Amino acid sequence: MTEPKSTRLAAYSELADGRPHAARAAGMDLVVVRVGDEVHALYGRCPHRGAPMAEGCLAGGAITCKAHGWDFVVATGESPGVEGERLARFEVQVDREADEVRVDEAAIVAWQRANPQVFEEAELLG
Ligand code: FES
Repeated sequence: MTEPKSTRLAAYSELADGRPHAARAAGMDLVVVRVGDEVHALYGRCPHRGAPMAEGCLAGGAITCKAHGWDFVVATGESPGVEGERLARFEVQVDREADEVRVDEAAIVAWQRANPQVFEEAELLG
């Protein structure tokens, strides 16, 4: 049996606590956030108009989009400020000895199939 293919998102050591980090897997933008010892990976584009969530700010366990202020709790993906909106979350594997944070690529591809991306990078309105 072959191991599931995973994609390296970041070195653990480069994830500053509370600072969003841009990453890509299977051609899709993600935002990686470390909050204390926890590392979260979420879809990297704001569901409002597609601004990069890695350019947002993190406070109180929620990441706020820099464009118009939609916010998302990183531990759940849900938005406290915009009912019904959320960012998809993806399970990460953290290997501190290898200094790697990885994500299962199959999970990203499956999510993409179920949720075709509506934002073209060249057309982001932000
Ligand atoms: S709040 Fe994120 S693009 Fe508008």
